[in-house]
Amino acid sequence: MGSRRDFVKTSVGVSAGAALGVFPKSLHGAPNVVIRRVTPTCVASANGLEAVSLAIRELANGADTIDAIVRGVNLVEQDPRDTSVGYGGLPNQDGVVQLDSSLMHGPTRGAGAVAAIEGVKRPSLVALDVMRYTDHHLLVGEGAQRFAKSMGHPIEDLVTPESRRRWIEWRARLSDQDDYLLPAESGEPVEQFRTPSEFGDGLLDSHDGFRPQGTINCDIVDANGDLSSVTTTSGLAYKIPGRVGDSPIIGAGQYCDNDVGAAGSTGRGEAVIKTCGSHTIVELMRNGMHPKDACLEALRRIVHVTVESRLRREDGRPNFSVNYYAVNKMGQYGGAAIYAGARYAVSVDGDARLEDSAYLFERADG
Ligand code: GLY
Repeated sequence: MGSRRDFVKTSVGVSAGAALGVFPKSLHGAPNVVIRRVTPTCVASANGLEAVSLAIRELANGADTIDAIVRGVNLVEQDPRDTSVGYGGLPNQDGVVQLDSSLMHGPTRGAGAVAAIEGVKRPSLVALDVMRYTDHHLLVGEGAQRFAKSMGHPIEDLVTPESRRRWIEWRARLSDQDDYLLPAESGEPVEQFRTPSEFGDGLLDSHDGFRPQGTINCDIVDANGDLSSVTTTSGLAYKIPGRVGDSPIIGAGQYCDNDVGAAGSTGRGEAVIKTCGSHTIVELMRNGMHPKDACLEALRRIVHVTVESRLRREDGRPNFSVNYYAVNKMGQYGGAAIYAGARYAVSVDGDARLEDSAYLFERADG
């Protein structure tokens, strides 16, 4: 009897970017999956163009799906120019960088996560260690850092001159009734806060119209139809210390089921947590929805449950952004955002590019 790998290798029916196959019809039934060779496909948030490219190269060199995408997001985590992830990520209200990450490995059904961890440039590697070397799925705060140290991760200062400058300016703008001087008053050049639409190609999103909120999510399927997902972030800029977003929450910031697909998110984590966003997308794909349509449907749920007036524009629509990304076991993929203008990174067998995200609403509507 041939192994599953043999079956995959000897099957025919390679088509552009996708394999042939069917999904299980029920949640618990024996997987009714017939997967033939899949074109390796990786999707990520728009700041992950190099990440998807590296991940697919790593697969070609024989890496497992989880190692491939973790190496991909490591590029962004250690890049001080990305102020939404890892080293150089914007700090919390006390000026301390607290990072979140989670990941899932499809073939072993493994999961690991860290939340509000300080001093580690690449929290996705600590999440990987949680998955591989503990009986737990989520470590937080000081305990997460102690675990990281025990596993050999260096503890470093993650604040860069640029992220400190921006935090100092944010602190000065908080109130005109304290002793902190605004840049104009102190003779420093004034930094203009950008509005969400000025974040351009979706590289950054805003939590509340002022504070930038980025993240990287990356999801992959390899030639065998095996899947993995990872999300890593510094979270909401200037957040209340201890605030944890969706990124380290398995089922919210990312989710992977090796029978079906993988999905993840960027944007306002509170909205994603409340709707179990990534798990919802995978369940919708399980029921046969295309990844793009599953992302859109999960976004509709966010819109539906956003009833707080502080979170709604005059037209009733959310005043924040969420982006979803997904790939299924057959190599079909998609990305979607609440508002038009977002893009996402994709690499299909080595050809990396940015594609326009599907969306629910035009930005100019409100
Ligand atoms: N989606 C990232 C966060 O809310 O922290």
